[in-house]
Amino acid sequence: MIVASVSLQPADTAAITIPKVTVIGAGNVGASLAQNLLAQNLADVVLLDIVEGRPQGLALDMAEACPLEGCTHHITGTNDYQDTAGSQVIVITAGLPRKPGMSRDDLLNINGNIVLEVMTKALPHSPDAHFVLVTNPLDVMAYVAWQASGLPPNRVIGQAGVLDSARFRTFIAQTLGVPPHDVSTMVLGGHGDLMVPLISHTTVSTIPLTELLPAVTIRQLVDRTRKGGAEIVNHLKTGGAFYAPAAATATMVAAILQDQSAILPVSAYLDGQYGLEVIYLGVPCHLDSTGVASVVELSLTEDEQAALESSARSVRQTLHKARTLFSL
Ligand code: LAC
Repeated sequence: MIVASVSLQPADTAAITIPKVTVIGAGNVGASLAQNLLAQNLADVVLLDIVEGRPQGLALDMAEACPLEGCTHHITGTNDYQDTAGSQVIVITAGLPRKPGMSRDDLLNINGNIVLEVMTKALPHSPDAHFVLVTNPLDVMAYVAWQASGLPPNRVIGQAGVLDSARFRTFIAQTLGVPPHDVSTMVLGGHGDLMVPLISHTTVSTIPLTELLPAVTIRQLVDRTRKGGAEIVNHLKTGGAFYAPAAATATMVAAILQDQSAILPVSAYLDGQYGLEVIYLGVPCHLDSTGVASVVELSLTEDEQAALESSARSVRQTLHKARTLFSL
C-alpha cells in the first residue's frame, strides 16, 4: 500500500564550479603538494612536468589512494599545458633544488629561465589564475614571474614566510615541550639567511616568548630557522625539504580558494609598505580570492625594521642580477 507520495523537484541546474589547481613541477615539493591538496578535498589537481610519465605515474598512484583516504576530487598527471586550462591557482615548483653548500641565489640563472618558460606557457590557458611561486631564489622568482606575466602584482605571490614561520614554531615548541600549534609567530623578509623572525610578535599560548626563554636561546632558534632549509639539504645530500614546503603552500592555496582573508606572511610586491618599493619580500598579507588583498603593516622594533631592510638589500642584489640576465 502506498502511504505517501513524494513529488520530486526539478534538479537544480545551476552549474557547480569545481576549483582547479595546477601544480607545475612533479618533484618532491610538487608531488607532496598535489597529494596534500587532494587529501584536503580542496580542488581538482593537475600535476604537470616536462618529464614524460612522471606526472602520469604519480597522479595514478595518488588516485589509487583516494578510495582509502576519502578524497573526492580528481588528479590528472600531464605534460600538456592544455590540461591546465581554467585553473584558479597555478603553483610553480619547477626548478632545481639546492645541493649541499649552495645558496638559494646560486639557482638564479637556471630556475629563472624555467619560471619564465612556465609563465609563458601557463598564463594563456588560465588568464584569470593566481600564481604562487615556490621555486628558489624565491623572492626574485616571484618578481620575475610577475614581470613576465604583466598581471597585477596581487595575483603573483611567493611562498616562503608560512614555511619559515612553521619552522620557527617547531623549534620553539620542541625547546619548550609544548604543542607546535600553541606557538604563534611571523617570519618576514626574504627567503634567505637574513630572514626576520619577529620576536616582538611571537607568543606561546598568548605569553610573549621573551618571558619563557632567555635571549641567548631565542637567538639560537632564530639562527636555526634562518638555516632551516640548509639543515635539511645537508641531511638529505640530494634535494631539499618538501613536506613542510608543500604544507605551507597548501595553506596559501586554501586561503585563496576559500576566500579566507587569512593573514599570512607571503612574498608580496611592495610599493612603499615598510618603506620598501619595487621588490617582492615576505610581509604579512590578507590572502583571499583576489590574491593579496592588502599588506598588513605591523609596528616593528628598530632592530626588526633594520633587519628587514638588510634582508631587502640582499634580495635586491639578486634582483639586480636577474634584471640583467633576463632583460627585465
Ligand atoms: C627550503 C626551500 C624550500 O627552505 O627553500 O626548504
